[in-house]
Amino acid sequence: MSKPGRADLVIVANRLPVDHVTLPDGTAGWRRSPGGLVSALEPVMRANEGAWIGWPGSGDDTEPEPFVEDGLQLVPMYLSEEEVREFYEGFSNGTLWPLYHDLVAKPEFHREWWDCYVRVNRRFAERAAQIANEGATVWVQDYQLQLVPQMLRELRPDLRIGFYLHIPFPPPELFSQLPWRRQLLEGLLGADLIGFQLPGGAANFVRLVRQRLGHKTHRDLVYLPDGRSVKAAAFPISIDAAGFIELARQESVMERAAAIREALGNPRKIFLGIDRLDYTKGIYARLRAFAELIAEGRLDVEDAVFVQVATPSRERVEQYRILRDDIDRLVGRINGDLGRIGRPAISYLHSSYPREEMAALYRAADIMVVTPYRDGMNLVAKEYVACRYDDQGALVLSEFAGAAHELRQAYMVNPYDINGMKSMLMEAFDADPKETAKRMRAMRKQVVDNDVTAWADSFLNEMAQVRPEHGKTVRP
Ligand code: F6P
Repeated sequence: MSKPGRADLVIVANRLPVDHVTLPDGTAGWRRSPGGLVSALEPVMRANEGAWIGWPGSGDDTEPEPFVEDGLQLVPMYLSEEEVREFYEGFSNGTLWPLYHDLVAKPEFHREWWDCYVRVNRRFAERAAQIANEGATVWVQDYQLQLVPQMLRELRPDLRIGFYLHIPFPPPELFSQLPWRRQLLEGLLGADLIGFQLPGGAANFVRLVRQRLGHKTHRDLVYLPDGRSVKAAAFPISIDAAGFIELARQESVMERAAAIREALGNPRKIFLGIDRLDYTKGIYARLRAFAELIAEGRLDVEDAVFVQVATPSRERVEQYRILRDDIDRLVGRINGDLGRIGRPAISYLHSSYPREEMAALYRAADIMVVTPYRDGMNLVAKEYVACRYDDQGALVLSEFAGAAHELRQAYMVNPYDINGMKSMLMEAFDADPKETAKRMRAMRKQVVDNDVTAWADSFLNEMAQVRPEHGKTVRP
């Protein structure tokens, strides 16, 4: 472990790509954390020997020195117990998360949460200002840090600043509920380039800036009174497709996939859901749809099983606790009513798994079911497609996932329409293998041609073009 210096590329994200954990022998250590954002940015970081500023995910308030772990320069930002409660669980995940996901749950507005969000954003901006070299590129990530671009620009006007929103950006009618809407828009406008998952999110942002701040806009450009312009455009995120394909081809993964099928009693078809346990993901409705198909005799537990992996997430937030209890109860009831000995209708796993196990699950599953009510992108859908290099398997996908804009050959569903979802699950179940292979091939091409490297390249290349008077450029 050596000490990092200052950096030409600085990623500022709520989370570090490692978690601070207590190891079995009682000593403290670091463990790679799961999550799409982490796997998305790691290759870019390595290529540029950049620094990554983020929270290591524990409530401690002693801030250790930056360090280098596994080739990555890491700069930990500790959040106090109060900051975890008010900034992370509160404003980020109790206010912004539901508001930006179409009010799937009711957002709460608390002034003390907002005050804490401002304080924590300022600390992140100050840390980035210390780490970034003269003229460096700083890339701020996601909804937890929307004020950082403006705060950082005030501290370091020499920097080139980018911002990327991983979750949806809501329509003006919803965003306008926020008592702090103006501050958030101004915070984002500190960036030179603002990236969204979909063109619709970028258009929502530009419209809001025009309506609420009165700035001149033209297409994807915002013109600020000080002469600066800001670009807002779509950069749909992706996965390390080659990495997943390689993993899925490993013999150990194939063997594990066969062992999973065997352990499930070798049913004719396996349905699979893998999600963070989040109310935006539509897990409850999807399991109900499957259970109804069994209850109606359209599917039989001898033929079909639904494996649902729910990764624990944000467990102290009220809405997440309620959801967990609801799903526990639903799975218990479905299996109690419809299962037979050795044949549960649903095999439910409340746990997170390493990539190898995920790849084995993808290989084992005949029908992947991804049915969020709203999702920025959904990388699980892309991971499944990448792992099906054999062109087998079918993807049932919500039209409200960002991924639906690219994976157009999926079996598309409206997750609010349970009957529609049931029909589509049956269509995927009964589909002709020639038809599913054609669909899978087209989707895999899309994912392979537009992988995470292409995503990072296109954002960083665009960054290099904004404000050309700026000397340094960082390229992937
Ligand atoms: O993509 C949205 C996001 O909140 C990321 O910022 C985060 O890495 C991931 O989901 C997991 O959420 P959390 O960091 O709250 O556990």
